[in-house]
Amino acid sequence: MSEPIRLNRAFFQDPHTIYRELRAEGPIRPATPERGLRVWLVTRYAEAKALLADPRLSKDGDRALELFPEGTGGAHASSLSAHMLNSDPPDHTRLRKLVNRAFTARTVARLRPRIEQITDRLLDDLAAAGTVDLVESFAFPLPITVICELLGVPGSDSDKFREWTKPFVMAASAEELRAAHEAVESYLIELVAAKRKAPGEDLLSALVQVSDEGDRLSPAEIVSMAFLLLVAGHETTVNLIANGVLALLQNPEQLAALRGDPSLLPNAVEEFLRYEGPINIATLRFTTEPIRVGDVEIPAEEFVMISLLSANRDDDRFSEPDRLDITRSAGGHLAFGHGIHYCLGAPLARLEAEIALGRLLSRFPKLELDIDPDALQWRVSTLIRGAHVVPIRVG
Ligand code: HEM
Repeated sequence: MSEPIRLNRAFFQDPHTIYRELRAEGPIRPATPERGLRVWLVTRYAEAKALLADPRLSKDGDRALELFPEGTGGAHASSLSAHMLNSDPPDHTRLRKLVNRAFTARTVARLRPRIEQITDRLLDDLAAAGTVDLVESFAFPLPITVICELLGVPGSDSDKFREWTKPFVMAASAEELRAAHEAVESYLIELVAAKRKAPGEDLLSALVQVSDEGDRLSPAEIVSMAFLLLVAGHETTVNLIANGVLALLQNPEQLAALRGDPSLLPNAVEEFLRYEGPINIATLRFTTEPIRVGDVEIPAEEFVMISLLSANRDDDRFSEPDRLDITRSAGGHLAFGHGIHYCLGAPLARLEAEIALGRLLSRFPKLELDIDPDALQWRVSTLIRGAHVVPIRVG
C-alpha cells in the first residue's frame, strides 16, 4: 500500500493536482491530516457517492471520540457537537425532522425579498469603496446576516460569532478550540434562556418551545443545533459566493456568457458547486465493520474521509472536469453531500448564491480581479475550500 498522503499546507494550496494523481491510482488511499490522525481518503466519484450513503459508516459523535488518539478529538470533544451531523438514526432522524420544514425550498423562497434587500445594501457599500475584499465585504456578511435573522441571533452579535467559530472550521490548536468552544457555548446558553423568557418569531424560539413541551430535544441538543445551523449556514455559503465570482473572473468567456443570458444563473450556481465547491472533504465517518473499496479492505473502527472536491472533478462522471462550463449539466455533483446527511440548507444556499451573484454582476459591469490568482492564499482546512481574501475592483 502506498505511503499516506499528507494533508498539509501545500496540499490545500493546490488540492486539484494531487487529487488528479490520486484518482488515477485508485479510489482510496491512506492519509494523515494535521493532529496525527490516520484516515482513509476517498477520491473517486462512484466510491465517494456510494460511501456517503453507506450505513456501515457511522457518524456517531460519542463513538468517534473513543477512536481518536488521546487528546486529539478536537471539535468532537465539545459539548456543542451533540447535533445531527454527528448522529446516526434514530437520533439523526429525530433531530433533522425538527428543523426540516424551516429549510424546504418553498419555505426558503419566502426569504427572497429580504435577501435581496440585504444584498443591495451591501452592494451600495461596495460601490462606494472601489477596490475591496469580496469575502470580507460581501460574501461573508450576506449569509451570516440571513442565518442570524432566521435563528433570531441579534445582528450586532454576528461579527463576534464569526471570530468564535473560526477555529471550528480551520486548523486550530487545542487551546484555541477550547476557548472558542467556551465562548460560543456560554453565548448560546444565554441566548436560549433569553428566547425562553421572551420568545420571538424565530427558529430558535420555536425550538425552545419544542424542547419545553416534551422529550424531543434535550437542552444540550438545542444549543448544539443552534451552533450547527449558525456555522453550517454561513461558512459554506461565503465560499460558494467567493469561489463562484473567482471562477467567473478567471474565465472571461463564461462571465460574458452569463452576463449575456442571466437565465443561465441557476445552472451556473450548480456548476460553481461542482467546479470549486465550498467543502473540500466531507465530515469524518468511521467504519462499523470491514468495508471493501476497490482493492482495499478498510478494517472496522477506522476513519474515512470522502473528498467532495475530488469526486466532482472525476472524469469518469463529468467530461473535461477541470473546465468551468456554466451551460453543462452539473446535476449529480456531491458538493452538498449525499444520503441521509445531504445538506439541509441546500435550498437556502442556492437562493442566496443566485441573488448574490446575479445582483453583483448586474450592478458592476466592469468587475475585475485585483490579484494574481497564483497569489491567492487558500484556507488550511480539510473542511472548507476557500481563499482567505479575494481582492476585486468593482469599476
Ligand atoms: C453552499 C453552501 C453549502 C454547502 C456547500 C453545504 C454542504 C454541506 C455538506 C457537504 C453536508 C454534508 C456533510 C457530510 O455528510 O459530511 C452538509 C450538511 C448540512 N448542512 Fe450544509 N452546506 C451549505 C450551506 C448550508 C446552509 C445555508 C445551511 C443552513 C442552515 C446548512 C446546514 C446544514 C446542516 C444542518 C447539515 C447536516 C445535515 C444532516 O446531518 O442531516 N448548510 N452541508
